[in-house]
Amino acid sequence: LKAECVANEPILTYRKDSKERKDLLQALKTTAAKCEEVPIVIGGKEYKTDKVVHQVMPHDHQHKLAQFYYADKKLLELAIKTAVETQPKWDRVPLEERLKIWERAAELMAGKYRQELNAATMLGQAKTIIQAEIDSAAELIDFIRMHANFLKECVKYEPISEDPKVTKNSLRYRGIDGFIAAVSPFNFTAIGGNLAYTPAMMGNAVLWKPSDTALLSNWRIFNIMREAGVPDGVVNFVPADGPVFGDTITASPHLAAINFTGSVPTFSRLWKQVGNNIDKYNNFPRLIGECGGKNYHFVHASADVQSVVTSTIRSAFEYSGQKCSACSRMYVPESLWPQIKSGLVEEACKLKIGDVQDTCSFTSAVIDDKAFKRITGYIEHAKKSSNLEIIAGGTYSDSKGYFINPTIVETKDPKDRIMTEEIFGPVLTVYVYKEKDLLETMKLVHTSTQFALTGAVFGKDEDFIKCALEEFKTSAGNFYINDKSTGSVVGQQPFGGGRKSGTNDKAGGPHYILRWTSPQSIKETF
Ligand code: SER
Repeated sequence: LKAECVANEPILTYRKDSKERKDLLQALKTTAAKCEEVPIVIGGKEYKTDKVVHQVMPHDHQHKLAQFYYADKKLLELAIKTAVETQPKWDRVPLEERLKIWERAAELMAGKYRQELNAATMLGQAKTIIQAEIDSAAELIDFIRMHANFLKECVKYEPISEDPKVTKNSLRYRGIDGFIAAVSPFNFTAIGGNLAYTPAMMGNAVLWKPSDTALLSNWRIFNIMREAGVPDGVVNFVPADGPVFGDTITASPHLAAINFTGSVPTFSRLWKQVGNNIDKYNNFPRLIGECGGKNYHFVHASADVQSVVTSTIRSAFEYSGQKCSACSRMYVPESLWPQIKSGLVEEACKLKIGDVQDTCSFTSAVIDDKAFKRITGYIEHAKKSSNLEIIAGGTYSDSKGYFINPTIVETKDPKDRIMTEEIFGPVLTVYVYKEKDLLETMKLVHTSTQFALTGAVFGKDEDFIKCALEEFKTSAGNFYINDKSTGSVVGQQPFGGGRKSGTNDKAGGPHYILRWTSPQSIKETF
C-alpha cells in the first residue's frame, strides 16, 4: 500500500448550457416526479413495516419525495445479529480489496451518480445548487477518498524490531468486534456517508439510522456503496424512530461504538443509556459525537469591514444557518458598528429566499415544521424583549414551505438566551461592545455558552490575534482568523468541537480512522 497525496474534489460551477447543469436538471425532474419507495435493508434483504413515514420537500411541504418505513425493535435486533455475524468475515477481507471498493465508490459519486445525489439533497434537504455540490458531491467524495488515504498512511507505520533475526514486531488494524451504530443528521449528506462508511472501511459492521429528513440522499449513498462492492450486511440501512433505535442498540451486549451527529440531549441520552448498561457489554463502547454549537464571529476595531460583512452574511445565512458551524452570535466594537450594521442590513435584505432550483436563490426553506417553530420562537422572543431589537428580517411563512427570512437582532444583553442557546436557523444576534471592555467581552464568548465548535476572529492588529489565540483556545474546535466560521474542507481543516459540541474526533483528519480500529500488537519470536 502506498499513500499518495489526494486532492480535494473540484467543485462544479453549473454554468448555463454546461453538461453538469443539463444533467442536474434532468436528475431534479426525475427525482421530483415520483414519491420513491425506500425499504429497510438488512443483510441485503429488503423489509417494510406498518410504520410508514414520508420525506417531504421543505420548500414545498405538500410534495412527498420518499416513502419509507421505521424498523421496529425486532428488525433492529435482526440487524444487530446480521452485523455481528458479518463483521469477522468482513474484517478478514484484505485491506487492499476494501480500499478498492472505496475508490470505486468515490468514482461513482464523482461521475455517474453525482447529479442524482445532488438532486436528492437539493429537493429533500432544501439546498441550493452550490450548497448541494459542496456537500453531496465534494465533501462526500473527499471523506471517502481522504479517509482511505489516511488509512494507507497509518498502516505504513512499523513498530521497532530491534533484532529482526530474533523478534519481529508488527501491528495489525482490526475492526472492533460487535457492531457500530451510525446516527446521522439532515444537514449534510456527506456526514451520513462518513458516519456509516468510514467505520465500515476499517473492518466494522454498521447499523445506519439516517435522518428522516435526509432519507433519499442517504439511500442514494447506500446504493452507490452497494454497487461499488460493499457486501451485504456490512452496512444495514435501518431508518427508525430515534428512541426505539437508541433503546435497542444500547441494550445489546454487542454494541461496539456509536458514531453520532445530532443534538446534545440525544447524545447525552445515549451516554446515559450506555452508562446504565455498561456491565452488559462485551466492549467498552466508543462514543463519538458531534453535537452543534453557538458559533461566534468576534470583530476587533482593526478589522476590515467589508470582509466582516461578507463573511458573516455567508456564515450566518448560507443554508439558512443550518450548518453546525454557522455563525449565530457576533461581537462588534462600537467604533465599527455603524458601518458593519449598515453593511449587514443591506446585504441581508438583498438575499433571495426561494425555490432550490432557482439559481438566484441564496437559500431556501428550513428543514421541517419542528425547526420552523423553534426558530420562529426565537424571533418572537426578540420581538417581545426590550433588550433585543430586530434590525433585519423577522418575517416568516410556512404556507408553502418553511421559509424564514434572514434575521439580524441587536442585543443589549450578551447573556440573553438568543446569545447562548443553539438556534440552528437564519438568526444572527449582535452584541456591540465598548473598546475598553475588549478583554472582558472576549472572556464572555467562552463563558456564556457550553459549546465550543467553531469561532472566527477578525482583525489586523497582531497583538489582538495573539491574545485571541490564547483567550479562545478552548472556545472552538475549528478556529478561523479573518475568515468565516463555516466551510471546513476535508483534509484541510479537520472538523469537530469540544465541550458540549462533541468529542472532537475531527472528521476529515488523519486521526479519525483510529477511532474505528482496535489494533493488535504482535511480537513474533524466531
Ligand atoms: N464542515 C461543515 C462546515 O465547516 C459543517 O459540518 O461548515
